[in-house]
Amino acid sequence: MDDPDAIVAAAAAAFAAAADPAQLEQAKARFLGRQGRVTELLKGLGKLPPDAKRAAGARINAAKDAIEQALADRRAALARAQLDARLAEEAIDVTLPGRDRGRGGIHPIIRTWQRVEAIFRSIGFDVADGPEIETDWYNFTALNNPENHPARSMQDTFYVAEKDADGLPLLLRTHTSPMQVRYARMHAPPLKVIAPGRTYRVDSDATHSPMFHQVEGLWIDEQVSFADLKGVYTDFLRRFFETDDLQVRFRPSFFPFTEPSAEIDMAFRDGRWLEISGAGQVHPSVVRNFGLDPERYIGFAFGSGLERLTMLRYGIDDLRLFFEGDLRFLRQFA
Ligand code: PHE
Repeated sequence: MDDPDAIVAAAAAAFAAAADPAQLEQAKARFLGRQGRVTELLKGLGKLPPDAKRAAGARINAAKDAIEQALADRRAALARAQLDARLAEEAIDVTLPGRDRGRGGIHPIIRTWQRVEAIFRSIGFDVADGPEIETDWYNFTALNNPENHPARSMQDTFYVAEKDADGLPLLLRTHTSPMQVRYARMHAPPLKVIAPGRTYRVDSDATHSPMFHQVEGLWIDEQVSFADLKGVYTDFLRRFFETDDLQVRFRPSFFPFTEPSAEIDMAFRDGRWLEISGAGQVHPSVVRNFGLDPERYIGFAFGSGLERLTMLRYGIDDLRLFFEGDLRFLRQFA
């Protein structure tokens, strides 16, 4: 018979050599399996006389116990190693800097939009919003721009193939001025409102973009004068730019929907003039289209470019920067 101690030593060596649970189970079968070496020893017992059988049986059982113990130890060791490896793999280094979510920022134009709203709200103006796809009537006709009038070509725009419910042409609004009419037809005077939003024209260079932003202003009551326009607008600019040290100029101009009309230019004390707004006293025909009596109601309107205001505020010289989405530019305002 093989020496049980030698078999124990061989099993211990085989178990130690097993690198993973599968190899360990194969090694176990070689010793404790149905044709394993220990089993073979036990089978041989039958041939021995009773005395020798008892002594040999005891030795074989002791060997079997020792092998089972070695197996259990190796199993535990492999399981521990596996766990250690997993823990090492999943280890979290709490001293590493955290991974940022990449927070967004407010676009400089929207910052201006918000500032303009806050300033006008503080002096009692309502804030209104309206459609960017507008009817020809609100965008032009109601604003005293008759069909085929050459003034329409000042604002070349994008037409939409579909017509509105009444069969009227639809277009991307060229200015926020249609909001004067929409708001006036839905509210009773006094009307005191601003309407910021996106506007569209066929125009593209360093100071013009096919999509841009305007803020419309409208104040209509029984005695709102051009002097009120000058006062309100100048005060707005001082608050927007946070300085009294600026020059404002109302230069005579023409818009079909205001009379008299002006362009508003501004300059910092040392800078050059920049046009930032159209404005004027609302034309009596437009007041009539508001559904109001122009003999009784009078007031001013203005339409200012939010890009222009933003460019002046931050000293930006190319308007296209606002819409290119370059983070190196945008991060400066976040
Ligand atoms: N809507 C005009 C434009 O876009 C600006 C304007 C608004 C002028 C209100 C007068 C009154 O050019």
